[in-house]
Amino acid sequence: MNTPRHTVRDIPADRLPALLRAMPKAELHMHIEGSLEPELIFALAQRNGVAIPYASVEDLRRAYAFTNLQSFLDIYYAGASVLLKEQDFYDMAWAYLERAAADNVIRTEMFFDPQTHTERGVSMQTVIDGLHRACVDARDKLGVDAALILCFLRHLSEEDAFATLEQALPYRDRFIGVGLDSSELGHPPEKFARVFARCRELGFHLVAHAGEEGPPAYVWSALDVLKVERVDHGVQSTKDPALMKRLAQDRIPLTVCPLSNLKLCVFPDLGQHNLRELLDAGLVATVNSDDPAYFGGYMNQNFIETFAATGLTAQHAWQLAANSFEGSFVDAAAKRAYVDRLNAAFDAFA
Ligand code: HPA
Ligand code: ZN
Repeated sequence: MNTPRHTVRDIPADRLPALLRAMPKAELHMHIEGSLEPELIFALAQRNGVAIPYASVEDLRRAYAFTNLQSFLDIYYAGASVLLKEQDFYDMAWAYLERAAADNVIRTEMFFDPQTHTERGVSMQTVIDGLHRACVDARDKLGVDAALILCFLRHLSEEDAFATLEQALPYRDRFIGVGLDSSELGHPPEKFARVFARCRELGFHLVAHAGEEGPPAYVWSALDVLKVERVDHGVQSTKDPALMKRLAQDRIPLTVCPLSNLKLCVFPDLGQHNLRELLDAGLVATVNSDDPAYFGGYMNQNFIETFAATGLTAQHAWQLAANSFEGSFVDAAAKRAYVDRLNAAFDAFA
């Protein structure tokens, strides 16, 4: 689906933040474990009697000074260790979904990392039950359409991924797709060729992190070997003109996460982010929060800071929101309904 372009009147830069907040949008790249705020980490640690190596919320927040992806992942996995019970997973997801609703996120496709929990003895059922219950409540109480995508950890083996898939299959109606996350460098997509082929046969949607820190070659193999429908991050693609052409021609969405890229030093500052270059090349680029509790902001913060730093316009705002609906895993009628809401919000704003 190539969404018909809605021509947007220019608005003064000082009114852009209000427009960015008001516009309905979809979030396609957010790790639910990365929405765990330090306050909730401490509350759950206390509730569950789990020891964490930080003296206070402030002490933990001070540790959020990352130099690359791995420096973040080490702290992210430590934070997730407080999650034990179904209610913990519910509380974490509910806190995120309330913030998503406040940001006018009307559709969210949330990643979860079951291996982070099952390897600590938490059952797959506990994880999925808690997250799923929050998704059901989000639709009923917040009007947010929420779905789950199971991610395999790429620093673990393909055999481990297959075992995880087996454990999750009894709950297959509760997640819409599979993804690939964790340490990218040294763990190319082809390591997971067979498990993705199996997930494809099973009818799951397929996505993978590629080209966050890793080279364009990883984006090519996510497309050609894993056969993903979306690429998570993908910002290194601008280094390869043939890849840019492929992504534009096949309308492969890139789920870009500007504040994540800033905090993990993928770009030296937001003003040098390549989001505009991706949009200008006709790619289906989107804005997402990745791990909002760790990277300094949820959806609207990502939009507002990135627009302020790069000079993107109201037309770009419309395009990014339209791209988020085009890239979402809903049927064509639902996409059209989302875009109608988007166009109505822009008309009302003007
Ligand atoms: N990249 C890879 N793995 C992750 C990320 C990310 O940005 N966030 C959580 N797991
Ligand atoms: Zn991510």
